[in-house]
Amino acid sequence: MEEQIREVRKQIDEAIRKNVTSAEQFRISFLSKKGSISLLLDEFRKLGPVEKKKLGKPLNELKSYAEHVMIDLQQNESVLNRNEAKELFNLPVYLHEPGGKHPINLIRDELCGIFNKLGFDLVEGPELEDDWHNFGALNFPDNHPARDMQDTFFAGNKVLRTHTSSVQIREMEERKPPMRLIMPGRVFRNEAVSARSNCFFHQLEGLYIDSSVSFADLKQTLYYFIQELFGENARVRFRPSYFPFTEPSAEMDVWVGTDTEDDYRLTKGTGWLEILGCGMVHPNVLQNCSINPEIYSGFAFGLGLDRICMLRYGVKDIRDFFSGDIRFLKQFASF
Ligand code: PHE
Repeated sequence: MEEQIREVRKQIDEAIRKNVTSAEQFRISFLSKKGSISLLLDEFRKLGPVEKKKLGKPLNELKSYAEHVMIDLQQNESVLNRNEAKELFNLPVYLHEPGGKHPINLIRDELCGIFNKLGFDLVEGPELEDDWHNFGALNFPDNHPARDMQDTFFAGNKVLRTHTSSVQIREMEERKPPMRLIMPGRVFRNEAVSARSNCFFHQLEGLYIDSSVSFADLKQTLYYFIQELFGENARVRFRPSYFPFTEPSAEMDVWVGTDTEDDYRLTKGTGWLEILGCGMVHPNVLQNCSINPEIYSGFAFGLGLDRICMLRYGVKDIRDFFSGDIRFLKQFASF
């Protein structure tokens, strides 16, 4: 056994000299349950009293020597780790700038919040639509010019929806009145791109169906909305208009003024900017969705989000929203 004790001691010194052992490897080889020192101790327990007396001391010394070596190894390793960490701390820092909501989404969320207070629930529909939901059910005659190639992007036998009114149809087909819904979304039109209009833009559709909904309810709802958005002094006007899916139909303009050249350009010199179309849902549309027009009536409106966003934030060119220019978008990061 004396021989074995010397052998293990040699192995330990060898391990230190070669500097290849980690503290954990060292512990496993010498001090763990199956390690060589523990095995020696097991042997030792079986010895008679005379031998125990002789070997107790050298064996204990071997054990505490091994323990010291292990502690040294552990300390060295933690110093090494700390040095590595120091290197990490010295790496240059790349600040990730916080992002922000896109201005169109800011306006969408604000408007949805206002209509939410009036009890309108939010729903969405697909951008790729069929002819029925985008036109047919909305009472567009077969030869209506809006179906023409000039306005509509066709994709196979589908269309990119030209307005969010298609979502009205989807919801009226699925639900039973009463219903009060707002439907935000992106729409597409094959139009000449300019500072005022783009080939895709955003709408917020509203729909309210119940027994005895009147045009007065529609006006009241929109006046409330305008005051919430632009304040009590906002000036608006209703103009009679035409949509196949509403009767009577109207459009609403807000007063922008002609004080600056930008106002002049945005309003084509009139001072008024059209922001929405609206009207009482046409009885044919209700019928197309299996809602009885003898019992129910309703109003609908479609707001242009991009235009409202331009007014709200003083954006001069609608194309800025989707130019991808980070300097433009950054201005909204804190809103
Ligand atoms: N869908 C119409 C448009 O895009 C707007 C509208 C919606 C008009 C609802 C009346 C009722 O111009």
